[in-house]
Amino acid sequence: ENFCGGLRAANFSIANTKKLINDAIMNNDFLNKVEPQHMREMVDCMYEKVYTEGQLVIQEGEPGNYLYVLADGLLEVIQNGKLLGEMRPGTAFGELAILYNCKRTATVKAVSQSHIWALDRQTFQTIMMRTTKARHEET
Ligand code: CMP
Repeated sequence: ENFCGGLRAANFSIANTKKLINDAIMNNDFLNKVEPQHMREMVDCMYEKVYTEGQLVIQEGEPGNYLYVLADGLLEVIQNGKLLGEMRPGTAFGELAILYNCKRTATVKAVSQSHIWALDRQTFQTIMMRTTKARHEET
């Protein structure tokens, strides 16, 4: 049991889900400095949301309160009405508003039904502070 209740997986094994989330975070240029033991806490605190075709996951210009990992499905990234690209499973996104306290820089929309894991800002910050505190205590 971890402090926020643990990861709940719906459709596929918890181990596979954890690996997918872990790899997605490690592949994100803004997130991959997280230490492995604290990465595990982040993964354990995520929960799954299902978005239907056409639904917006993120809306450009709004405040952001979640970091996301796409586990299954397909997303598109849109900025000022222009398509910037697609996201495939194993992608972490929504990190910019969380890390830099800025407004969402783009809209992210489900092209097909998508299974997305979310981590709320408060939990993310709690884990990052624990990471920093643990690092200080080691030295
Ligand atoms: P954030 O700004 O919080 O919310 C929108 C997200 O879309 C952003 O974080 C990134 O994760 C992602 N994003 C922004 N710009 C691009 C881009 N050019 N290509 C792919 N993903 C992007």
